Amino acid sequence: MDTVLVTGGTGYIGSHTCVELLNNGYHVLVLDNFSNSSFEPIKRVEKITGKKVKFYEGDLRNKELLRKIFKANNINAVIHFAGLKAVGESCAKPLEYYDNNLYGSIALFEIMNEFNTKKIIFSSSATVYGNNPLPYGEEMPYGIISNPYGRTKCMIEQILGDLSKSCSSWHTIILRYFNPIGAHQSGMIGEEPQGIPNNLMPYILKVAVGDFPELKVFGDDYETPDGTCIRDYIHVVDLAKGHIIALKSLLNSNNQGKNSEGINIYNLGTGKGYSVLELIKTFEKVSKIKIKYSITQRRDGDLPICFANVSKIERELGWKAKYNIEAMCEDSWRWIKNNPRGYKNV
Ligand code: NAD
Ligand code: UFG
Repeated sequence: MDTVLVTGGTGYIGSHTCVELLNNGYHVLVLDNFSNSSFEPIKRVEKITGKKVKFYEGDLRNKELLRKIFKANNINAVIHFAGLKAVGESCAKPLEYYDNNLYGSIALFEIMNEFNTKKIIFSSSATVYGNNPLPYGEEMPYGIISNPYGRTKCMIEQILGDLSKSCSSWHTIILRYFNPIGAHQSGMIGEEPQGIPNNLMPYILKVAVGDFPELKVFGDDYETPDGTCIRDYIHVVDLAKGHIIALKSLLNSNNQGKNSEGINIYNLGTGKGYSVLELIKTFEKVSKIKIKYSITQRRDGDLPICFANVSKIERELGWKAKYNIEAMCEDSWRWIKNNPRGYKNV
């Protein structure tokens, strides 16, 4: 079976993808520097699947380490999750983001070139669509992007496009995630933000377990039915399964759907949007916990509405999200109920 290197594989999306990779029979190598994670998810991934992960602790920017990993293993493809992802932090520390995300990616692509492993799936984001008209489709140009994090995503996408143009043996799939929430149904792995969460569901979970007294809803005066922002939430297990479908197509070097730069881009979303208040209500319904909230001013840079056109990936790869918003809330709730301190319980 093929061997896949997963960068950032101990993180939220990476750990869920490792479960699906192992369940589909792939050999999994993980590289992570624990800048936003720990080793515990690997232990749990192995417990869920009954299979082993080969783990390397280290930084993507360490080319010697990358060389060592590629030399010791016959790697068929790379799934590249590793990166810093907090929008606000990226505005405060732009150089850290460019160094980690951009330089880390370049180092990885260089070593992949050196070892002639030229199949990669890259984690991009709906943030690249910026102010385009809705729903967002893969053929759209980049929108106006207001933060360094989003710019690193566009730049890495463009670097991958240039690589594909320079050499036809590069096969690249870019997956643009919408808003991943939820957790594995076992309740053993999930999202563990450090400190105060930036994103909505992790914040709701902190309120649910009593770590914070209330949620602040950033604005209720948007042009949406209830005035709060609308997002395309996707269950992280659906997202992880999307990577397996993409990987199978990549390993078969199926060129269908390539754009003019020779890369395939797919949205991973459900195509449906829910408002902040709808997500809170659904969470309350499935958990039977009241989430106290107050309305505050808008957060800088928030778009009123964001949702995907998901027809391309369904048409070309046969992937479609399966889990609804109730399942996303139920699984998020199970994770935090079982692990109120996240992985720090152990
Ligand atoms: P995460 O922070 O949970 O996981 C990222 C992992 O990468 C962490 O384990 C971190 O320790 C590791 N890492 C970071 N820099 C590294 C480096 N230089 N060397 C080695 N390891 C490094 O984040 P996530 O939510 O799982 O996101 C995974 C990817 O998906 C990221 O690239 C993120 O930008 C992208 N993405 C996430 C979302 C989201 O809402 N979660 C949305 C769109 C795109
Ligand atoms: N929100 C609140 N209170 C909070 C947190 C969020 O009201 O405490 C609101 C936001 O204003 C927004 C909605 O909840 O309207 C969703 O916010 P998130 O921060 O959860 O998600 P975003 O859509 O803003 O951003 C996420 C990722 C980005 C990524 C983007 C598109 O954080 O990295 O999705 O993929 F770029």
